[in-house]
Amino acid sequence: MRRTDLVACLGMAALLAGCQPTMETQVGTDTADGPRVVAASDIEAGRYVVLVGGCNDCHTPQYAMTGGARPPESEWLKGSTEGHTGPWETSYGKNLRLTVAGHSEDEWVQLLSTGASLPPMPWPSVRAMSEPDKRAVYRYIKSLPGDPGQPAPPPLPPGATPPAPAV
Ligand code: HEC
Repeated sequence: MRRTDLVACLGMAALLAGCQPTMETQVGTDTADGPRVVAASDIEAGRYVVLVGGCNDCHTPQYAMTGGARPPESEWLKGSTEGHTGPWETSYGKNLRLTVAGHSEDEWVQLLSTGASLPPMPWPSVRAMSEPDKRAVYRYIKSLPGDPGQPAPPPLPPGATPPAPAV
């Protein structure tokens, strides 16, 4: 975007907000009428958010940590055995299919809005997702076919040597 366009847009945004920008006007706030992905269906919108949100990187084994072929969609989000080690312990991206199966859509929205757990789960980004996108992600994960898989390994305490692979 050219600088003049940006200035024009900012001016328009200020006008629309009554020249009193508030938190509600920021991109990514968690409101029912916040910014949202527009797609042919909620499921398509959810798939897109999962893809660009990088959820597979940590919640699907061999998605990001290999340079080769990525697992098919039928294997997505079943939880990862690839450990993330740091001062926080070793954590594993949980099986989100099981999380969705154990939560109503409203509970999922609540979880994504208030979630806090071990790194490197990017909670600040996920909490900032708008409510319609959180609901779309839920519907997408719920629509995934096949066996939901097993729970990811529980976190290991600090100092424990995790089995490979771990980063
Ligand atoms: C950089 C790695 C990483 C990325 C990217 C990531 N996660 Fe996570 N996520 C984790 C880890 C690790 C945990 C488990 C943390 C723990 O054990 O305390 C987790 C936990 C969760 C949980 C809690 C599940 C439960 O049952 O308690 C949810 C929900 C979740 N992630 C959703 C998402 C979504 C949605 C995305 C994409 C927008 C995403 N995550 C992207 C690493 C990641």
